[in-house]
Amino acid sequence: MSGMNKVEDIAGHSLSSVGGGGQSAGGVTKSGAILLFGATGDLSQRMLLPSLFGLDSDGLLPPDFQIIGTARSAKDDEGFRAVAADALSRFIEVERRPDDVVQRFLGRLSYVSLDASNPDNFAPLAQHVGAKAQNLSIFLSTAPSLFESTITGLAASGLAGPQSRLALEKPLGHDLASSRAINDAVQAAFPEQRIFRIDHYLGKETVQNLLALRFGNMLFEPLWNASGIDHVEITVAETVGLEGRTSYYEDLGALRDMVQNHMLQLLALVAMEPPARFDATSVRDEKVKVLRSLRAIDRASVATHSVIGQYEAGAVAGQPVPGYTDELGRSSATETFVALKAHVDNWRWKGVPFYMRTGKRLPKRCSEIIIQFKAVPHSIFGAGATLQANRLIIRLQPEENIRLLMMAKQPGLDRDGIRLREVPLDIDMPNAFADTRRRIAYERLMLDLIEGDPTLFVRRDEVEAQWAWIDAIRDGWQATDMALRSYTAGTWGPSAAIALVERDGVSWHE
Ligand code: BG6
Repeated sequence: MSGMNKVEDIAGHSLSSVGGGGQSAGGVTKSGAILLFGATGDLSQRMLLPSLFGLDSDGLLPPDFQIIGTARSAKDDEGFRAVAADALSRFIEVERRPDDVVQRFLGRLSYVSLDASNPDNFAPLAQHVGAKAQNLSIFLSTAPSLFESTITGLAASGLAGPQSRLALEKPLGHDLASSRAINDAVQAAFPEQRIFRIDHYLGKETVQNLLALRFGNMLFEPLWNASGIDHVEITVAETVGLEGRTSYYEDLGALRDMVQNHMLQLLALVAMEPPARFDATSVRDEKVKVLRSLRAIDRASVATHSVIGQYEAGAVAGQPVPGYTDELGRSSATETFVALKAHVDNWRWKGVPFYMRTGKRLPKRCSEIIIQFKAVPHSIFGAGATLQANRLIIRLQPEENIRLLMMAKQPGLDRDGIRLREVPLDIDMPNAFADTRRRIAYERLMLDLIEGDPTLFVRRDEVEAQWAWIDAIRDGWQATDMALRSYTAGTWGPSAAIALVERDGVSWHE
């Protein structure tokens, strides 16, 4: 981890790095420059440039570090700096961007316009990058249709230098076969150890905190299995709709947009065995074992283990919003909501359902993981004392907090028998760490990329295990002509999603 001064050499071994731009024993050096493809695009403006700025203002970029932007649009360095300056003014609070710091940051920026669809066009870019090509960080946030030509161009022009590393944004394919094709193309120019597949959820502080909660405390681990846990719920609810990403979303739907990546990564972190070390190989080895242990939801089980929905016009936070097809302008069979009942078929999780749901235009933005513990085996209290089983609520966003619901005695003389009540034990993360600036996910990921640490990036075997599981679900939906249920925007999805868990005597945490 960057913060822990760990890097992984190309054989996959963890090594201590030499800070300050030095070279580690395994030969992985800090990048001297980052090359951003899609540099003027939305992700770059909202996340990448502000993240690099955050790192720069905290002194985390080497002094001569360069940020080279490239995109199709004709611009010069000044034009790109103007785009960046505008992005910073929109996405960084004014008190965090003093003028001298902004000017220093803009001074790192340069731009080369490039049509990346033709690999022959890369020579001027390579010339511009010069010797920094040896250990360049390259970030592709372009349409996947440009991946292959970009990678060929990078390799042919010498930009895929011996220490260069490549970060890729999703979607990395739309199914297992297309994901393999992309991975093969990328691996023709970069070895796996220098491919950094981004799942921005892994960059979230709150998601990393899951590891701290599980493996930094003695309290939970002995109960973290089928003997102690009844079920797990993972909800990622969004209030937004299409946000103008019409064709992107329409081609993917909620299952591939959110479950294939973010939600399966959350599930893997919840369910994995303790890794021996916090390094790229150990952590990812454990995650992939979980992903491979997921029981297939296939033609025989999709009807009982999944629900899909699409939102109709309604209201979110008191504001009327149009339905999905109104936003799209045509009819559509794309799901904007999915709920699943998953199982991890191994010893630890035998018989424990993992319920997952995600959707657009739900009542509130909220990502949380609920660990529902089992009830105590026997109550010593009288009939008046109702016992609720313990529940751990890990709220990832919008605010981070961890709450353990426990039973406590109600104060009183108990003339009619002892009474118990559920009370929360709260860890209010923002207050506990009030003096620490909360960083956006990409800050962490960009720094790890620059420093060459792939721990928080997704390995090829993980992506492929994720796709294999998702493909079976989609095949099941198609083969059984799965019903797409409508739900009113601003509600928690189709009522069938409630029935999915109620059949097991469970209710979604809301
Ligand atoms: C992206 C999806 O990966 O994650 C979007 O493509 C979704 O559809 C977004 O809105 C959610 O991310 P976050 O960080 O806002 O939870």
